[in-house]
Amino acid sequence: MRFANIHKISDALAPACTWALVWAAVLAAGPAKTANAQAASTSAQVPQYVGAGGCSAPACHGSVRPMTQTSIWQNEYSIWGTQDKHSHAYESLGNPVAVRMVKILGLPAANSAQECLECHAVDAPPAARAKTFDMTDGVSCENCHGPASQWLGPHTTAGWTHEQSLQLGMYDTRDIVLRTSRCLECHLGTKDKYVDHEMLAAGHPDLYFELDSFEATMPRHWKQPLDADPWRDVRDWATGQAVQFSAEMKYLGDLTERDAWPEYSQLDCFACHHDLVKTEDSWRQQRGYTGRRAGNAPWNPSRYVVFRQLAREVDAALAARLDDSLGNLQAEMNRLQPDRGKVAGSASEAASELDDFAKRIEGLSYEQTMTVKLMRDISGDADEISMSGERSAEQAAMALNSLFLCYSRNSKLADDADLRTAIAGLYQQLQNPSAYNGFLFAAQLHKFNAALR
Ligand code: HEC
Ligand code: HEC
Ligand code: HEC
Ligand code: HEC
Repeated sequence: MRFANIHKISDALAPACTWALVWAAVLAAGPAKTANAQAASTSAQVPQYVGAGGCSAPACHGSVRPMTQTSIWQNEYSIWGTQDKHSHAYESLGNPVAVRMVKILGLPAANSAQECLECHAVDAPPAARAKTFDMTDGVSCENCHGPASQWLGPHTTAGWTHEQSLQLGMYDTRDIVLRTSRCLECHLGTKDKYVDHEMLAAGHPDLYFELDSFEATMPRHWKQPLDADPWRDVRDWATGQAVQFSAEMKYLGDLTERDAWPEYSQLDCFACHHDLVKTEDSWRQQRGYTGRRAGNAPWNPSRYVVFRQLAREVDAALAARLDDSLGNLQAEMNRLQPDRGKVAGSASEAASELDDFAKRIEGLSYEQTMTVKLMRDISGDADEISMSGERSAEQAAMALNSLFLCYSRNSKLADDADLRTAIAGLYQQLQNPSAYNGFLFAAQLHKFNAALR
């Protein structure tokens, strides 16, 4: 993952929005497949998905340049259409990898398979599709912001508030907990839509996530009120970590109900998928197999080992209870034939600790001391994190990158260049995941830690 770019906002004038016209067109088009009055009245109750076209007018969200005098940039559609991979998500279902994938899986064409569309498009039920709805939009505005039919028109009127939109079915992406949950429906998976090992083996890229880094890559199409909250990215990172871990516990529990279990996608990929090397070069043998029989594929703890450092900062007692549950969960998952009930029990125990925790974390005040402390804690736990596998190392690299970028933007640092070099070194260690080496990554984390002092 590259370093995040902060948007450069250029000057431009904001013309009045021609929303009313767009809205009139949507209303005139009415719901798909229904023209009679009864269906129209149903459609007034069932929020409809109107499609990204409904947001694209230049004076609404389709401006080419960002506006500076309005509360939003108004170029959200242009950013999404030209820079955000979500706008190609449907198209990707026609690429050679997808074609081969569905052939292996015995599914119909990917762009008509429910198993794919549910994450690669607005997969709305027919009754919730307005006539302007367009599946080929891919992952579009309404995937994240909710069906727009009821607030599309009103939200362009003067004095209209965000809360009023929420009452009409807009999804509250401003709430970081809700926002992350939304991302994770597709970037982690749920009981109903998932990328399991069978899909991975057929060619699907593996799913991993970190809110702040992923928002930067997306890239963000919203204003970052940096002046109001200069540490906002740290809040995004921290809240994202808590929500991600909580969602994983839920998902892990749900997966135990599947026939095919244990599910390899929950284990450390590179415990199985690595090259065999001469025994004197094996970092795994050098590390040993603490807590499991040599050669058993371990659970992938990447969503926990970094988050744990944050949990300890915020609530040591809660973190200790989590460590207990996770110790049990890990011991069970690391067995050749784990017990479904025990895994589900530990996962739900952990999840119950986390119910309000993400909200608490979102509400904390973040500043320099806390940010530096987190970077120090994470890089200081170099050995534990690095020996937990490549995916854990990846989370640590993304975390340090996110925290550092925010720190560097807000403070004048004597060690700026050294820290940047150290982070680049971390990513270098992740270039070829199958050749990952825990000792080399740990050494690089120690370097970062030393540069921080
Ligand atoms: C409805 C499912 C869905 C939701 C919700 C979703 N994504 Fe995605 N995301 C996808 C899919 C599918 C792709 C792959 C698109 C492609 O390349 O074809 C993707 C790709 C991405 C990428 C590009 C990854 C890369 O390898 O370059 C980023 C970054 C990203 N999403 C961030 C986010 C963030 C942040 C959120 C929440 C604010 C989010 N996504 C919500 C489905 C979703
Ligand atoms: C649980 C949600 C989910 C499901 C179900 C899903 N995908 Fe994806 N898919 C994603 C996400 C998220 C990404 C982006 C991953 C990343 O880069 O981090 C992605 C990426 C891809 C890519 C790579 C796109 C690129 O830019 O090269 C292909 C191809 C793909 N998916 C095909 C499929 C096919 C075919 C199916 C159905 C068999 C499917 N997906 C089902 C979420 C999903
Ligand atoms: C992958 C998820 C995702 C997609 C797709 C997406 N957005 Fe967003 N959008 C967000 C998030 C997250 C925010 C930041 C939180 C917020 O401000 O609501 C945001 C913020 C915004 C804002 C600023 C709102 C505010 O309250 O400041 C606007 C306007 C917006 N999006 C419009 C659009 C439009 C138009 C599209 C489609 C062309 C779109 N978004 C597609 C996730 C998404
Ligand atoms: C317990 C061992 C194990 C774990 C853990 C595991 N896999 Fe696999 N994987 C396999 C086996 C066995 C095959 C089938 C290989 C074959 O048929 O040659 C396979 C096949 C694959 C393939 C297709 C074969 C190839 O080399 O391209 C991919 C891709 C893949 N796995 C990705 C993953 C990812 C990503 C993860 C982690 C989320 C993962 N696997 C976790 C054992 C595992």
